[in-house]
Amino acid sequence: MRIAVVGTGYVGLVTGTCFADSGNTVTCLDINAEKIAQLNRGAIPIYEPGLEELVVRNAKAGRLMFSTDAAAGVRTAHVVFLAVGTPPAADGSADLSALWKVVDSIAPHLDPQAVVVTKSTVPVGTCAGIERRLKERTGRDCHVASNPEFLKEGAAIEDFQKPDRVVVGVRSPAVGEILRSLYQPFLRTEHPFLVMSPESSEMTKYVANALLATKISFINEVANLCERMEADIDDVRRGIGHDSRIGFAFLFPGAGYGGSCFPKDVQALSAMARDRGLAPRILLAVHETNLAQKQVLGEKIAAHFGGRLAGRRIAVWGLAFKPRTDDVRDAPAIDLLERLLAGGADVTVYDPEAMPNVRAIYGDRIAYAEGPLNALDGADCLAIVTEWGDFRRPDFDEMAKRLRARVIFDGRNLFTPSEMRSRGFVYHSIGRAPVV
Ligand SMILES: NC(=O)c1ccc[n+]([C@@H]2O[C@H](COP(=O)([O-])OP(=O)(O)OC[C@H]3O[C@@H](n4cnc5c(N)ncnc54)[C@H](O)[C@@H]3O)[C@@H](O)[C@H]2O)c1
Repeated sequence: MRIAVVGTGYVGLVTGTCFADSGNTVTCLDINAEKIAQLNRGAIPIYEPGLEELVVRNAKAGRLMFSTDAAAGVRTAHVVFLAVGTPPAADGSADLSALWKVVDSIAPHLDPQAVVVTKSTVPVGTCAGIERRLKERTGRDCHVASNPEFLKEGAAIEDFQKPDRVVVGVRSPAVGEILRSLYQPFLRTEHPFLVMSPESSEMTKYVANALLATKISFINEVANLCERMEADIDDVRRGIGHDSRIGFAFLFPGAGYGGSCFPKDVQALSAMARDRGLAPRILLAVHETNLAQKQVLGEKIAAHFGGRLAGRRIAVWGLAFKPRTDDVRDAPAIDLLERLLAGGADVTVYDPEAMPNVRAIYGDRIAYAEGPLNALDGADCLAIVTEWGDFRRPDFDEMAKRLRARVIFDGRNLFTPSEMRSRGFVYHSIGRAPVV
């Protein structure tokens, strides 16, 4: 099949590349000319494990093209995926301005049989809106489908090529069959291809993310309570996780969830409820709990220094909102940096992939270390915000030598308190008694 993907970001680039790799001819389109030029040179604008090799291989084979010319890109396409960003507007609802711009720009060039598919996360009713808009612009009924994306940054290729399920929302069985044949190479392991209405499909994506965010906020809230009641969240987590009705997934306490999806999707689903006269009580609480959780590490650090951060040297390990990505959108590390800088601290950061994105925000207001240990030189404490594998088994003796004081604030519970005690560290984590 000939495919166009409009929006070549984390989702669009992975989608286009994986469809090219399964034998389709794909053009990835974007308005960001620099990004397209980079891709045409074989340089990958984001960090995603395994992506570069696939992009280079498929581009070389002539199956994967990159262009800013949306008209040419969609003209011969059988399927056009929309994968532009849908960031939160000021009121929390999804801002669809990029999506409507794309719909308007591609409408005159679409083949009458082409299927337009929303891969962006869009509010319920957006597919219907695209159908109406395309009919106004083209004078005919166009095929529009919903196909939400469930990939996780950091494991995006694996998730796309071996999805737990594929969800499509269609109005006609024929469109469902086109999408089924496109996904067939990725569903050899009998994982389901679920066909439903566009409205249910659009809702499914929000409900999935909102439930995962709910689990995180829930465990964070009870972790904070554990800390104040001499209970240990690790033990409690084990105690509940073995219950087959509960399980372990997404029940790790931490410094709050971030990224470009959970925060905005929880708010967008809240906005949908609010707009229909329903009070989204749980969703509001999930969001509020997370905003508060992103402050916890900074509060612990401030308390340790008696509320005076000015002149303190603080090392931060981990900036990306999670490991194996360079994405810092809504990352808890950003909240921490804001707090530390507002308090007058000197901050040195290290992240294996995300430092260029953080440098683009903070420039030389903070220092950037070449490695995790370098970040510690002369620091009054270390704060860990992202659970990169590199941080899990560090050289504690070397850390102790480099730090001015053996003090760690661990937002991801990477170490065991008993080991930290035996090594002479002051150690604050989440939901566990501090080692002081
Ligand atoms: N990132 C994820 O992990 C993830 C997972 C599932 C779903 N989603 C959803 O997928 C969508 C895209 O997310 P993302 O993280 O890939 O965003 P992104 O910001 O990385 O990429 C969006 C791209 O769209 C481009 N763009 C904007 N306007 C355009 C236009 N008019 N024409 C062509 N290109 C245009 C931008 O330049 C950018 O490259 C969002 O709705 C998001 O919620 C994201």
